[in-house]
Amino acid sequence: KKLFVFETQQPGKDVVPVAYSKDKDSFKIYNKGLDPGHANYLANIEASNSTGEVFVRFEKDKIFVYVCFGELKGDLEKLKDGISMAGAKCLKAVAYLNTHINFYVDFEEYDRDFIGGLILSSYKYDFNKKESKNKLTLSIIGNENVKKYISIYNSQNFARFLGDTPANLMTPTLFAEYACDLLKDLKVEVFDKKFMEENKMNLLLSVAQGSEQEPRLLSISYKGRESDEVDIGLVGKGITFDSGGISIKPSANMAAMKGDMLGGASVVSVMKLVSDFKLKANVRAVIPLTENLPSGSATKPGDVFCGMSGKSVEVDNTDAEGRLVLADALTYIQQSKPKYVMDIATLTGAMAISLGDSFIGFFCNDDKLAEVIYQSGIQSSDPAWRLPLSSLYLSSMKSTVADLKNVGGRFGGSAIAAIFLNEFIEKDTKWAHFDIAGVMDSSRNTAVYGKYMTGKGVPVVFETVQTLIQHL
Ligand code: BES
Ligand code: ZN
Ligand code: ZN
Repeated sequence: KKLFVFETQQPGKDVVPVAYSKDKDSFKIYNKGLDPGHANYLANIEASNSTGEVFVRFEKDKIFVYVCFGELKGDLEKLKDGISMAGAKCLKAVAYLNTHINFYVDFEEYDRDFIGGLILSSYKYDFNKKESKNKLTLSIIGNENVKKYISIYNSQNFARFLGDTPANLMTPTLFAEYACDLLKDLKVEVFDKKFMEENKMNLLLSVAQGSEQEPRLLSISYKGRESDEVDIGLVGKGITFDSGGISIKPSANMAAMKGDMLGGASVVSVMKLVSDFKLKANVRAVIPLTENLPSGSATKPGDVFCGMSGKSVEVDNTDAEGRLVLADALTYIQQSKPKYVMDIATLTGAMAISLGDSFIGFFCNDDKLAEVIYQSGIQSSDPAWRLPLSSLYLSSMKSTVADLKNVGGRFGGSAIAAIFLNEFIEKDTKWAHFDIAGVMDSSRNTAVYGKYMTGKGVPVVFETVQTLIQHL
């Protein structure tokens, strides 16, 4: 199984140079002298986007692709999106070669977005098909920055792979194995049910008890500097399938819930980048892994559990399971006293209503950290928008029989979930919660993502980690 088709190489024979300029006229000349046999491929990418033009020139064993966006007219988000789409179309245009292709990328700026478009659009999930259609492999040649971007988007594709893999092939046990394989250079501990029992992680266990699959708790440690202090803690929701449990979901689109571990997958990918980039900080990650299924042993609405923090929760709705597993994971990671904690989770369907699939929603208890996240979103072209973390949403979760209920009212679902998590955050912890439910998959079948899981969240969380470390 070859997951990563992109690598950096020394210039080889069949190089596809890709250039970008604001100067339209300098590229006009290349629009002439085309091989008519390739006209359809050209048409394919010429229609690539509304914000710019793509020019192609065929020459013996070389194809020149030029992307030109003219003047930047203030709308940076649209421009970046257009460049990434051009990358996707560029890949489509050369895909017919059915061979190994070297891309030589030489951009004045926005090379990050172009490379993102190339790499993310190259991703497909066909490992379970009798025949994999596309034998194309590619290399990108470029400077140091280009190499960094390649790692980032390859890593994002890995998170997508974990998410797209069907739940029967991505159980908690198998997820842990994939993570161990990928993170060979790191200390990875895989804990079982017994460990959870010993640590009173009864909220996590309450979700797992309906499933035949054993739950797992993954702990990943990266040491990038002297001292045993943990600088940053990452937590990812790892529900390998979310049926809703006894509060079962409707069957339409339930299959998408194989992706309910994308928070955990993103954390694995970010840890891989932290280690590959040799960041100078200590970073720790915790991923609670379980299925959420109905059965004779499953949690019933109204059941009460007391988690690791000592707080008891009445499970009013078994489909609000993410916050339960995160509560214990957040309690656990804070035992190592990280200065910053960030969790990432496909937590609430309400995110799709509030922000759609263009922005990740995040909640934060520290204004400086929130600003770093916002700027990191722009920097990494993986934008995130802050939503209110407010105790005004807490009252709806009052319980008559426990410290709190796991659900509140119907409206403001994402903010309710966030303030629930906040109940498990200690006073000194600078904390942010990313809700990636709205950006999880690409139902629109976009040029860049196809119909697959997007892996969005990996770039912005990694960028945030990098920035925080610079200021430690
Ligand atoms: N995993 C879902 C949220 C989700 C929905 C992720 C759609 C990705 C796409 C989560 O566990 C859930 O079911 N949340 C409920 C909460 C409700 C019961 C308060 C929801 O959003 O409906
Ligand atoms: Zn659920
Ligand atoms: Zn869920």
